[in-house]
Amino acid sequence: MNIQIPRGTQDILPGEVEIWQHIEKTAKEVCERFNYQEIRTPIFESTELFLRGVGDTTDIVQKEMYTFNDRGQRSLTLRPEGTAGVVRSFVGNKMFGLPSQPVKLFYTGPMFRYERPQAGRMRQFVQFGVEALGSADPAIDAEVLSLVMSIYKQLGVKNLKLVINSLGDNESRNAHREALINHFKADIQDFCSDCQERLEKNPLRILDCKKDADHPLMQSAPSILQYLTDESRAYFEKVTYYLDQIGLDYVVDPTLVRGLDYYNHTAFELMSEGEGFGAITTLCGGGRYNGLVESLGGPSTAGIGFAFSIERLIMALKAQNEVPDLNQPLDCFIVTLGEKAKDKSVELLYTLRQNGLRADKDYLDRKMKAQFKAADRLNTKFTAILGDNELEQGFINIKNMETGSQEEVSLEEFCTYLSREIQGGREK
Ligand code: HAM
Repeated sequence: MNIQIPRGTQDILPGEVEIWQHIEKTAKEVCERFNYQEIRTPIFESTELFLRGVGDTTDIVQKEMYTFNDRGQRSLTLRPEGTAGVVRSFVGNKMFGLPSQPVKLFYTGPMFRYERPQAGRMRQFVQFGVEALGSADPAIDAEVLSLVMSIYKQLGVKNLKLVINSLGDNESRNAHREALINHFKADIQDFCSDCQERLEKNPLRILDCKKDADHPLMQSAPSILQYLTDESRAYFEKVTYYLDQIGLDYVVDPTLVRGLDYYNHTAFELMSEGEGFGAITTLCGGGRYNGLVESLGGPSTAGIGFAFSIERLIMALKAQNEVPDLNQPLDCFIVTLGEKAKDKSVELLYTLRQNGLRADKDYLDRKMKAQFKAADRLNTKFTAILGDNELEQGFINIKNMETGSQEEVSLEEFCTYLSREIQGGREK
């Protein structure tokens, strides 16, 4: 019996992997331009980290974590997101003490959530994320937002809507929380059991409920923006001022609630409005989390970040036919005729590769015609043809596959000749 791939996971095969590499490379380049540095943290962490970090009333912690005991009976969890691990590392490595502040980091890697799989919702997915720790300047909020928008722009993703909201500080949130409880309390029995539970624990999450989305009380629910303290309002206004200044389009949506508990002040999501994109339209999410470092044992430190999955980004590119052709042609394929030529080709091939060329040869003892076919399939720029006769006379035939022209080149000059030709082609 064949063993099946686990539900909600995928293999990324050659042909598809190039688009992944392209996205990772582009995102990394943009981050470096914004002066963010890469961090790599473990794929599994202590379960406790996510209970405290992500929040024990969230769907992620309650329903979606891959949690297991290791052989030493420690409870570990495959990371469902990257922020908690980065903050744990920030605290553990005392990065708050580094001379260069704020600490601006980016990361990429697989995350795991036990969700119901569908297009754009996987159980293993790859996030690219950014965290800026150590500054409560609203200009950093604008920087982080402009960073993610730059990545999407550079990759050619269109029809994007940036939705932002402020969740305020603790005081704003507490006042809003009270207002929400009062608003829903009398009719809470009309809501799903999850919402009934959320009422006292985390009423903000009711606003994010899919099952009860059409309930009239949802529309009339008090908006957080009405409960912002003067300070929180001023902060949010400064963020939008900077966004306006740099000309970044956004929509303020006071109903935007994020699925993780650590947020305060600025929260945002990036949605796709493209046609044919599918049901899940959120491409990216993030926000400010000024209390998280402290709740994980560090000094009071401001933080903000975002993450998007590469799976959803590729969906957006595919929906608008923006996937570039990334197949790299081969520089040279060596075709041989005769035993001696075949033996010699091993050395020639090695030399080409040592000199930076993408080169290959036949390994299946194919007839000459089939070797040419293999070269064609690889879309090679040049084919080098070596027979026992040519070998004896010390030269090799090089065919330019684009023009069809053919030249005899001495074996000593073979590599230099090809390098020059390839270089010339690149510069054209
Ligand atoms: P999140 O909204 O839970 O936030 O996830 C961020 C992004 O990860 C989503 O917008 C989506 O692109 C992707 N994503 C989430 N779940 C799945 C899934 N099952 N399949 C495919 N893609 C998925 C966070 O994770 C926060 N850590 C973001 C953040 C960073 N906030 C501050 N810093």
